[in-house]
Amino acid sequence: MNLPQGPKLPAWWLRMQFTADPLRFLDQMNLRYGDIFTIMSESTPLIFVGNPQGMKQVFTNTTEIIAAGELNAESAPLVGKNGLLLLDGIRHRSRRKLLMSPLHGNKIRAYGQQICDVTEKVMNQLPLGKSFLAYPTMQKITLEVILNTLFGLHTGDRYEQLKHLLNNLMNYARSPFVEIPLSFPFLQQDLGRWSPWGYFRYLWRQFDQLIYAEISDRRQQPNPNANDVLSELIFARNETGELLTNEEIRDLFPSLLFGGRDASATAITWALYWLHREPQIREKLRQEINNLGESPNPMSIVELPYLNAVCNEILRIYPTQFVTFPRIVESATNLMGYNLSPGAIIIGCIYLTHQNPELYPQPQQFRPDRFLEKQYSPYEFMPFGGGTRRCPGEALAMFEMKLVLAKIISRYQLSLTHTQREKPQPQGANYPPASKLKMVLCNIQQHQPTQEAVSC
Ligand code: HEM
Repeated sequence: MNLPQGPKLPAWWLRMQFTADPLRFLDQMNLRYGDIFTIMSESTPLIFVGNPQGMKQVFTNTTEIIAAGELNAESAPLVGKNGLLLLDGIRHRSRRKLLMSPLHGNKIRAYGQQICDVTEKVMNQLPLGKSFLAYPTMQKITLEVILNTLFGLHTGDRYEQLKHLLNNLMNYARSPFVEIPLSFPFLQQDLGRWSPWGYFRYLWRQFDQLIYAEISDRRQQPNPNANDVLSELIFARNETGELLTNEEIRDLFPSLLFGGRDASATAITWALYWLHREPQIREKLRQEINNLGESPNPMSIVELPYLNAVCNEILRIYPTQFVTFPRIVESATNLMGYNLSPGAIIIGCIYLTHQNPELYPQPQQFRPDRFLEKQYSPYEFMPFGGGTRRCPGEALAMFEMKLVLAKIISRYQLSLTHTQREKPQPQGANYPPASKLKMVLCNIQQHQPTQEAVSC
């Protein structure tokens, strides 16, 4: 095996550096070793690839390079042993297929108005003239949207219970009480509800009770017109032609919930950051949205070309996930001139590919126009990953991001409370701004303005 060059420091030390400042770490590695480098984790090589040629191989050479579920075993307490992330092979393919139907473009169109309404509801609760944290505020919006899309719930006791519980559970999952035991499994001790891990297990049991009650109600009173993911899964058949069991259905939800709430909230928070650092871009976007007139149809919003370019540039400059989920070399392969033996692990580096100056001149500059001037291939621009694990929520995520942004930019005047450059910080698989982004709500437009908005 001839491996790409890389640092000789211990993997735990490099991991700490990466967690503390992922941008700096990856930029330094790139500067020193180029866009393919190796980090040794004991005797296992972790190969980071950050260029289109390598990405293409990782996403398309699915016989020699496998997206094995066991590589994500650390996430099992979060997303379940039968969640998409832990599955591979035929089961993974068939479960993804079941999910792709309700998360498809045509089905999600039905949620357009609700997404706009939820955005307005959450934004209207913010105090005028006082600061707020954008990231948890966007999480409130994206949690409601994902509950709607996954469960078809938007009112009622069970909806309120689920919303409250999931908010608690997902925030607790990002706390040191869970993050540390996830890295050190011997700490995963359920010593009752008042112990740190026991409380986490207790919250999951509450989730199970709610979802099983909902599944049981729907099995008894099916609604053939329902479009949501849960309703479709209840009548779906698995790879052997049998109806999915309640447990199989339940296990598909945690990874969708985490992706649905946190990845989308990360992307929208970065959007608010960039658009309020770059007022000309914000005004150009506001003008494009306002040209649609008052109360535009959600579908006309999502088709706006400049809005699309802005969203792409947001996902390029700081992708919500800096790296793909890992892949493993199953049988000897050649990756960009390096002969890799079985067992080597490959990690697609989305951030470094998106920072390649040959593809994206002045890559640190936020410039949406680059997406109007050039079409990028799926191996040059890949905020949703690719191949067998490509994000199943992509259509929903882009639809939601555009509608939430359009609503906020056209109706709410916000400003950043400080001018320092924000840094991404890992939280689970996502990289929201380290500060969670402090902003102030300066004004709310009752109607869409026809003139340039005044900033506060
Ligand atoms: C802007 C928002 C989002 C971004 C940028 C994003 C990005 C990604 C990326 C980069 C991956 C890894 C792909 C790979 O390893 O090749 C992924 C996987 C995944 N995402 Fe998303 N995501 C977003 C929103 C969502 C939403 C809304 C959902 C749920 C509806 C979701 C659910 C998932 C799941 C379940 C996986 C794992 C797929 C599998 O293992 O087969 N994501 N996402």
